[in-house]
Amino acid sequence: MDLLIQTIKEEGIVLSDSVLKVDSFLNHQINPRLMYEIGKEFSNRFKEDRITKILTIESSGIAPSVMTGLQLDVPVIFARKKKSLTLVNDLLTAKVYSFTKQESNDISVSNKYLNEKDRVLIIDDFLANGQAAIGLAEIVKQANAEIAGIGIVIEKGFQNGGQLLREQGLRVESLARIHSLDNGEVSFIKDGTK
Ligand code: G4P
Ligand code: NA
Ligand code: NA
Repeated sequence: MDLLIQTIKEEGIVLSDSVLKVDSFLNHQINPRLMYEIGKEFSNRFKEDRITKILTIESSGIAPSVMTGLQLDVPVIFARKKKSLTLVNDLLTAKVYSFTKQESNDISVSNKYLNEKDRVLIIDDFLANGQAAIGLAEIVKQANAEIAGIGIVIEKGFQNGGQLLREQGLRVESLARIHSLDNGEVSFIKDGTK
């Protein structure tokens, strides 16, 4: 997606060979116009898939998910990372291990909002090792709902999440795929290549 790639080139900061900071438009300050275009792009890619729900995880997955939900006219659910006072009963939960943070967290969703009739589009801001997406997929399975696909804003192609998910037969659509962050530079994988 050209506008996203252009914005990453202009505003992204390479923190190390493995981490890209995008605080100016996605992870801290949010660019609504860009999120709107991201929503249109995901919606175009999944418009034939009879999506009934979008599932993401707090916090940075919410903005692109809401814009996609607006376009597809479906509700957006975000999995919680911390136990909520009001979210106590009938939880669907999964364990998510973060290699980056070296910690494991439970994520949860109320079973009230997902059921066996749902066709779910999972969305997240980054795909690194894929553990968050796998946890979200696990929650969809617990609800006996169907996973229609996974939409990722920025995929780091040099980490193994994309391969892991695609090997499980899941459809992964990433709007920007990064080949490498070596030497302080962002290089992209061109659409249509692996
Ligand atoms: P994984 O789910 O793909 O295995 O990812 P990982 O555990 O490595 O990610 C932990 C957190 O770091 C996630 O955000 C993820 O989105 C983010 N992340 C991973 N790689 C990058 C990167 O290169 N740049 C940036 N900016 N973020 C990255 P989170 O802690 O859940 O935070 P948030 O959603 O509240 O922002
Ligand atoms: Na995220
Ligand atoms: Na994030």
